[in-house]
Amino acid sequence: MTASSPPPKRRASTIGISAGLNARLAANLPAEIPRDSLPARGLDAQNAYELIHDHLMLDGNARLNLATFVGTWIEPEARRLMVECADKNIIDKDEYPQTADLEQRCLRILANLWNAPDPTQAIGISTTGSSEGCMLGGLVMKWHWRQRRRTAGLENGTPNLVMGSNTQICWDKFCAYFEVEPRLVPITADRLQLGAEEAVARCDEHTIGVVGILGSTFDGSYEPIEELSRQLDALQERTGLDIPIHVDAASGGFVAPFNSPDLVWDFRLSRVVSINSSGHKYGGVLPGVGWVLWRHDDLLPAELRFNVNYLGGQMPTIGMNFSRPGAQVVAQYFNFLHLGREGFAHRMATLEAIASHLADGLRALPPLRLVSHPLGQLPVFAVELDPSVRNWSVFHLSDKLRERGWQVPAYTLPADCQERAVLRFVVRAGFSRDMADALLDDIERAVGWFESLTLPMPEPITSSSFRH
Ligand SMILES: Cc1ncc(COP(=O)(O)O)c(C=O)c1O
Repeated sequence: MTASSPPPKRRASTIGISAGLNARLAANLPAEIPRDSLPARGLDAQNAYELIHDHLMLDGNARLNLATFVGTWIEPEARRLMVECADKNIIDKDEYPQTADLEQRCLRILANLWNAPDPTQAIGISTTGSSEGCMLGGLVMKWHWRQRRRTAGLENGTPNLVMGSNTQICWDKFCAYFEVEPRLVPITADRLQLGAEEAVARCDEHTIGVVGILGSTFDGSYEPIEELSRQLDALQERTGLDIPIHVDAASGGFVAPFNSPDLVWDFRLSRVVSINSSGHKYGGVLPGVGWVLWRHDDLLPAELRFNVNYLGGQMPTIGMNFSRPGAQVVAQYFNFLHLGREGFAHRMATLEAIASHLADGLRALPPLRLVSHPLGQLPVFAVELDPSVRNWSVFHLSDKLRERGWQVPAYTLPADCQERAVLRFVVRAGFSRDMADALLDDIERAVGWFESLTLPMPEPITSSSFRH
């Protein structure tokens, strides 16, 4: 049980047996089964399955979930491979050398895709998701900073990391877990992301690096990584401070190379030392797999890598976890093999077109205003209400859409813009143009209903239920 989900007060401590359970097997069961303690006697597997299956029926429909960035659809063939690999632990590289080989192939493909100067010299690892990739990217920057300071005989106890206040929560975690001061660049009404100049102004000799996001969790926009790199070059010329960039391309790492090939954000910039991305977001895999890569083998200190030699040659193991499923890595390779460059480009262009269709349809509804547009960024965008709207909010609209099964999160923007509440739409593989039209119809109906109100709606009770 998590701290945020205390059991409802009236919840019994036992599970009642439902009439739908297999009658023959249920005949010998106790009438009640403890809910939160280990039952003295176990259930028959089929009945246990049915009980849990029924319990899960109240979960949202993953395909109608426009809240998450994480994959909810995958080709049946990839799903089959995942089931075939469900028992493989990726850390057992000697037992499953073929799975380990696919992981290495994926890393080389990503090094190519992200324009590493020499993809054979880039080094990386699969992770459980971007959060772990971010932790590792941050840790390596911190390690290098501390080594430089130690070597120079300088104080090295007060590292800081510069980033926008719009960064994903994993960066707050990184700073808290690893004792790094977060130096946040506040967003403003006209700039809902990191400003390059503002970031550089916060850098000093204690800065381990700057994080740039591709793209922002709040509105899908890409941060100006190339400009940030230019400004950090200028800082180095002025002061001698050489500050690296880690790109958090959790979503954009699989989108920008196809939708925005001319956008320079990756290892083409020598200041970009590491990049993370989530295979389980636009990489098209079900949760959870992420990737982190360093531009060159030299950047990953020996102290942070643990070599295994099971496969002949040295294979570094880096990472917070030890045991992890291998199935997602196999599914990632399936996507690379199945889609190829052309297939990824087609998929991303389609998602951009569907998201744009949805955004343009919403823009045409007068009380709604676009905060961002999916063209040239992630197929993600946010809308807000015209300030003249008094009787309802985006939180009410989010709740209303939930009645139809759609999960579209409403939330307030980060510090300095927290008075602005937005509704965010994340369009992913499996969300068709037909579904977009159905959603547009539902939103239009809901907005019409809200606009007909003569009195304000009461406060919604679920306004903080989405945390992405
Ligand atoms: C920019 C960014 N970074 C990191 C993360 C964390 O990713 P994961 O869920 O793969 O750990 C997210 C998740 O939405 C994100 O949008």
